[in-house]
Amino acid sequence: MGTKGSEAEDQHPMSGIHRLDLSARRQRLVDADMADPDELSVFDGAGLSAESADRMIENALGTFSLPAGIGVNLRINGVDRVAPMAIEEPSVVAAASHAAKLLRHGGGIEAHCSEPIVVGQVQLLDVPDPDRAERAIQAASLELLHLANQNHRRLTAAGGGARSLELRRLEPLGPDDPVGPMVVVHLQVDVRDAMGANVVNTMCETVAPRLEDLSGGRARLRILTNLCDHRTVTVRGRVPLDRLDRREAARGSDLAQGIVEASVFAERDPYRATTHNKGIMNGVDAVLVAAGQDWRAVEAGAHAYAARNGRYAALARWRVTGEYLHGEMTLPLAVGVVGGVVKVHPGVRTALRLGRVRTASDLAELAAAVGLAQNLGALRALAGDGIQAGHMRLHARNLAAEVGAVGSEIDAVSRAMAEARQYDRDAAQRLLNRLRNERAAP
Ligand code: MEV
Repeated sequence: MGTKGSEAEDQHPMSGIHRLDLSARRQRLVDADMADPDELSVFDGAGLSAESADRMIENALGTFSLPAGIGVNLRINGVDRVAPMAIEEPSVVAAASHAAKLLRHGGGIEAHCSEPIVVGQVQLLDVPDPDRAERAIQAASLELLHLANQNHRRLTAAGGGARSLELRRLEPLGPDDPVGPMVVVHLQVDVRDAMGANVVNTMCETVAPRLEDLSGGRARLRILTNLCDHRTVTVRGRVPLDRLDRREAARGSDLAQGIVEASVFAERDPYRATTHNKGIMNGVDAVLVAAGQDWRAVEAGAHAYAARNGRYAALARWRVTGEYLHGEMTLPLAVGVVGGVVKVHPGVRTALRLGRVRTASDLAELAAAVGLAQNLGALRALAGDGIQAGHMRLHARNLAAEVGAVGSEIDAVSRAMAEARQYDRDAAQRLLNRLRNERAAP
């Protein structure tokens, strides 16, 4: 990673866009050659047509919108990137962008993906002799892998396909368990740039009858596992201590100590870890939603991974070493950039282009980097002034708009609410009336 840089060399091309209005913000992306002017109009709310929606799900009525924006200040593996984010919760984009800026001061975020291995499970029941069945399946593994790959020429030509088999034995949990022992076959598949559910499920269904022959049992479930512990992404970043506090460099060490204490709290306690990880997933999911991904699969996998050692724990951890606060996180992230919604949703295509996403790894690294930044943003706020001040400032903007403020009135009313520390509709209405009276006064 790089050394502490000057402000000027640390500038991200989209830095400061929160100060622009929406159309100037779009223009900035166009000027930076990151989007075409027409392309950004997909974010006017007409991204996916009702006809496409009707083909995608049953009983469709149309589509449903969320705010879409970009997280900025990210430098990932030495490259400046923006993160498309779709989310309803105020302050998530702001917090990720601010924390990404802090991480830039330490050289940016390093991200590394494992091979894209997704695992399918075939459940075998009533296996008369499990030891013999396991030996027979092992002996036939090449034949089984060949069978699994048979109808997936495109995937194998691209370097992917079924790679190996693993066998597991699941015994009854106790006297009340109504089902006998199971042999479970794990089929490990390199899915390249796909999310992998379709290909892996198909392969499991293809090999199941042969597994029944070999084991003498009967196959029941044939489906991927969302606990993708063979398809992970690891992200690391660091912040120079004297950059942690914008106003007072000397306060950085104290703030870093607070962040470490918050991290250790989540490492020790499942109650805190749940909220710690929820904050991480605020960032990860926002990217995944904008990129049209199955974020429920990633959520399920991430939380199961957080409990992999038998106790639910923090996904990201922070430590101080020397003059830096270091953060690190590994999580399973099965995403795909071929097929599915990526093909039909124009908003998703634009989001992927904005995020410079060409491969599944590009997307996984981006989502995980935002997750790490999000966690830093949350812990920094929680360990410092608390989270509510920032939340309430953004909430104030909504309240101002709700009571009828328009244009520059929104900022003026929300500022006045923050100064008065009053964040309710009545205060918004009162302050708007006062502002209008003042502006009308000669
Ligand atoms: C709120 O959406 C997320 C946080 O609660 C995360 C955290 O507590 O670490 C702020």
